[in-house]
Amino acid sequence: MLTCTHRHAIDAIYIDPPYNTGAKDWKYNNDYVEGDDLYRHSKWLAMMERRLVMAKELLNPDDSVLIVTIDEKEIHRLGLLLEQLFPEAHIQMVTIVINPNGVARGAELNRVEEYAYFCFFGSCAPEKLSDTLLDQGREGQANRDSVRWERLMRGGSNSRRADRPNLFYPLFVDPVKRVIAEIGEPLPLGFDRRNVPDRQGLITVWPLRLGGEEANWRTSPEYLRTLLDQGMARLGAYDAKNDHWSVLYLGKAQIKRIESSEIHILGRAEDGSLLLHHCDAGIRMTPKTVWNRPRHSADQYGSRLLRTLLPGQRFPFPKSLYAVEDALRIFLASKPDAIVLDFFAGSGTTAHAVMRLNRQDGGRRQCILVTNNEVGAEEQRRLRTAGLRPGDPGWERWGICDYITKPRIRAAITGLTPEGDPIAGDYRFTDEFPMADGFEENAAFFTLTYEGPLSVSHHGSFERIAPLLWLRAGSSGRIIDAIPERGWDVAEAYGVLVALDEATAFVEAIAASETASIAYIVTDDDRRFQMVCARLPGRITPLRLYESYLTNFEIAGGRSA
Ligand SMILES: C[S@@+](CC[C@H](N)C(=O)[O-])C[C@H]1O[C@@H](n2cnc3c(N)ncnc32)[C@H](O)[C@@H]1O
Repeated sequence: MLTCTHRHAIDAIYIDPPYNTGAKDWKYNNDYVEGDDLYRHSKWLAMMERRLVMAKELLNPDDSVLIVTIDEKEIHRLGLLLEQLFPEAHIQMVTIVINPNGVARGAELNRVEEYAYFCFFGSCAPEKLSDTLLDQGREGQANRDSVRWERLMRGGSNSRRADRPNLFYPLFVDPVKRVIAEIGEPLPLGFDRRNVPDRQGLITVWPLRLGGEEANWRTSPEYLRTLLDQGMARLGAYDAKNDHWSVLYLGKAQIKRIESSEIHILGRAEDGSLLLHHCDAGIRMTPKTVWNRPRHSADQYGSRLLRTLLPGQRFPFPKSLYAVEDALRIFLASKPDAIVLDFFAGSGTTAHAVMRLNRQDGGRRQCILVTNNEVGAEEQRRLRTAGLRPGDPGWERWGICDYITKPRIRAAITGLTPEGDPIAGDYRFTDEFPMADGFEENAAFFTLTYEGPLSVSHHGSFERIAPLLWLRAGSSGRIIDAIPERGWDVAEAYGVLVALDEATAFVEAIAASETASIAYIVTDDDRRFQMVCARLPGRITPLRLYESYLTNFEIAGGRSA
């Protein structure tokens, strides 16, 4: 169907197919492919090949990207399949740390990563961004150079402990996460700092000069706590030779520059500190092929984030929202009208990520999700025992599309859980705001059905193909669901003419529209079609439909697996 509506029109495909783990994660010809199936790799390749061949028909050959995530089970076979199907593309593999704690693999090493193949078509190339996605600290993340982070330790006059005893207090630092975990209280003059106990797992940092002399901080502990909460204080570099941590904060002058919008807040870094961007001094870097960002954690920003949107609903292995967002941003940052497709939609993370990109730059990117409505293996057993069968409403409501994909998209847009409660928590990192704010986005849901040859030859009704005409015309404005009695209609993006005797009124109406770009003309008669075409303004593309509407969308070959 999409090859009719979006042939060579897609800018980015992001897919996260079943990884063929042997754990009932996908079916071939209606049967789960088990781990001991001798043909499991062939079956998986056959399933993928069909879909990738179709993907090629949909991608814009002049400038587009195909992103396929995968793990170690099928990575090599997938790589060869991609090379075979797309000899014209540049293909790169990216390693993404999605579980820094590691998943135990019995007698193997603990696994922390998965992979993504990026296939670049035509002139497509990655954009330079404010994060390499690998490096830690200054060189890796958004530009901080034009923004002055000051040292928290005082220098010059009044900088000895005895000068300001109230500003001599400990910071408890987590050296692994590189964050200030706690802020202690001032130590009265005369008390030996060595008597202050360390806290478990944390390092105690005092304001000490390199020679060991006791100094003081520039702010009170209360104010520093406020700054830390606001992301305006952070750890600086660790000097291993002198075993010395530097601590940085934003002074009043910098805060003023933020308030006056001279400096923009891009979001927060992994340590919670603000990522700031001085309007005319952004360092841009090409992202690297190994990504190591805690925000790519599939558990925290995939499964747990999904539970916040849909409390009580379970879905195995959603992607981290921010990992998909980062992957798409690399190619779509300067394509505000891009069309993105994901035909293994799962919980719909890809559409959610596109909504976030749009909000960040006012873009109007579209996302098309495709999914089956398969019921999970365990659920199937339960439903069969209860006497239900596929097709029954009581069965279908547990299918992935009705149970997860649609509710997740609704929740993301409205900011409400399915129960109608505001979603708890905030979006993090780039562009932070309450999830309950939702997005200014529209979504339309369609159910795709197979029509038997009989219904096709018996003049299938117009309403069955109405969404396709709308999709083909750019998916904006009103859908023409039914043809009015006068025999034609014109919506924002397109018009449909059925009664060719009314061509004059139709041509006038569509010529008067500033936004319509397609005229669908329904006729089996070549000559009459040509006559209407000749009268249309040049900016309107005429497309012919046969009177038996459904034949226009006949797909060669039988049903796919
Ligand atoms: C790993 S999930 C995708 C998860 C998604 N990226 C997310 O973040 O939620 C793979 C999806 O492929 C779908 N799927 C499995 N077998 C399929 C098949 N034969 N054809 C189409 N989709 C299939 C499953 O329903 C599942 O939702």
